[in-house]
Amino acid sequence: MEVHASAPGKAILCGEHAVVYGLPAIAIPLSGIRARAIGKASADTLTIFAEDLGQAPLRIVGDEYDRANPLSLMAGLTAKLVGAASMSGEIRIRSELPIASGLGSGAAVSAALGRAVAQLYGAEIPDEDLNRIVFEVEKLHHGTPSGIDNTVVVYEKPVYFRRDAALEVITIRSGLRIVLADTGVASLTRDAVADVRALARKAPKRTGRIFDEIGTIVAEARDCIERGSLDRLGALMTANHELLQALTVSSPELDSLVDAAMKAGALGAKLSGGGRGGNIIALCAEDSLCDVKDSLLAAGSKQVLVNGAGHGSRDDDSD
Ligand code: MEV
Repeated sequence: MEVHASAPGKAILCGEHAVVYGLPAIAIPLSGIRARAIGKASADTLTIFAEDLGQAPLRIVGDEYDRANPLSLMAGLTAKLVGAASMSGEIRIRSELPIASGLGSGAAVSAALGRAVAQLYGAEIPDEDLNRIVFEVEKLHHGTPSGIDNTVVVYEKPVYFRRDAALEVITIRSGLRIVLADTGVASLTRDAVADVRALARKAPKRTGRIFDEIGTIVAEARDCIERGSLDRLGALMTANHELLQALTVSSPELDSLVDAAMKAGALGAKLSGGGRGGNIIALCAEDSLCDVKDSLLAAGSKQVLVNGAGHGSRDDDSD
């Protein structure tokens, strides 16, 4: 018997980095771009194959998982949660999410793997427990994660997220047409987060003001999403990008894709996630979608995806 599990990628609409310091942020699941885990029973050891992540097969014998390896830690914590004394089986990870690109690859792979490991033992993990474990693994990826990535990926719902606060799901009034454009530059969130921390130590007042301005943007953006005010939402996203530039987490490649999207008629555009590389997101009206896509490709984007968030399904289109 085979088991199948998956989890989506994510995009942060606004509030990244400031969210690490307790301010709110908004994220949406990218349901059309997923990490998947396919498992089957086998004797003695648990073997995880993850070629898409550029990793050699990983073998876990008994209950001896490696706390420093994200896949091993995820499998081990899940087995513990479902009461499996020793691990066995074969799991193959397949991911459509580029690594280190701000789209939540780490959290999505962890969530899919956790679900598959649980299923191999005939169990299903409640989202609340899965979220807690994926957060533990995120600490290996990100150092001091806020918890937004694991939350949006595990619950697969648009979220208004605040550290240590109860989950708030947002209702998207009119569908959001989001274009994602990849700079092709891999960038580790952990490094960008560490640099923002250093900046906050060096210039606490200025950095604190930037975080507060981002927090104000996020609050208004939530209102716009819930009321369907997409023009204003776009303007807020672009203003958020400027504040992320001030936090030093943008890059020439990200800025040039943001400019290209705006010149082609996007309602707003910004980097999404840790920054320095990875993806930008552009909010578009239906009639500018093609121009924005073409312009992003002409500006050097390595991949352009369209995600329709808020149409209420786990099968939103991406192409
Ligand atoms: C990463 O997707 C978002 C950051 O705010 C880090 C975090 O919240 O853990 C940059």
